[in-house]
Amino acid sequence: MGLSTRQDTLLLAFTLLCTLVSLGCSLSCEVCNGPEKSCNGKMKQCEPGKDTCVIIVSESHDKGPYVSTVKACMKSRDCHPGYVSTTMGPNNYMVTNTYCCQSDGCNRGSVPPPQYNRTANGLSCPSCVVPFRDTCTTTQLAQCVGRETHCIYLAGRAKAGIISAKFATRGCATESACRAKAGAEVPSASYYYFLHRADCHEASLPGRAEC
Ligand SMILES: *[C@@H]1O[C@H](CO)[C@@H](O)[C@H](O)[C@H]1NC(C)=O
Repeated sequence: MGLSTRQDTLLLAFTLLCTLVSLGCSLSCEVCNGPEKSCNGKMKQCEPGKDTCVIIVSESHDKGPYVSTVKACMKSRDCHPGYVSTTMGPNNYMVTNTYCCQSDGCNRGSVPPPQYNRTANGLSCPSCVVPFRDTCTTTQLAQCVGRETHCIYLAGRAKAGIISAKFATRGCATESACRAKAGAEVPSASYYYFLHRADCHEASLPGRAEC
């Protein structure tokens, strides 16, 4: 038996031990963010409790369509793979494609930018976007598009470095957005979001939406 085989066996045994008894061996993920369809960064050890590596590719509207990517560590309970679309107003939307995985460096690759469909589907939701406050009262309706069949109300804090600000937003969302729960910590290219509130209900037909 060669040395490398023995090392492989040891590594395997160690990995198994970590997995089976959760010895607290922490996960390493690639960490980066940028205004592109992908990004490359250093491998970092995740904080305790963050057991998932993530890639989130987003497209939002900011004086035009704007694509960005974040790679980070997350808690598995906060990481929801796949496509999410939200619309807060005619030129205020965000679509994301999320990839979650649970082994060292597993988020080194890239995922396709989210596909989206901006065709109005006849549903609407109370809408608002409020910085620096964590509640928002709505006076407007957002017209839902594509597969957005639900209304969401997200509020909490957005942190960037040492800066932290309250935010609140309401609008249309795909049902997949309802997986977000209060207490979730969600990275993005510009902010780290701490959700204090994540309400979700089915969208109503126009004229019947309650503000
Ligand atoms: C886009 O969304 C509209 C409204 O839900 C739907 O009728 C249409 O089939 C969708 N188009 C595609 C290409 O999915």
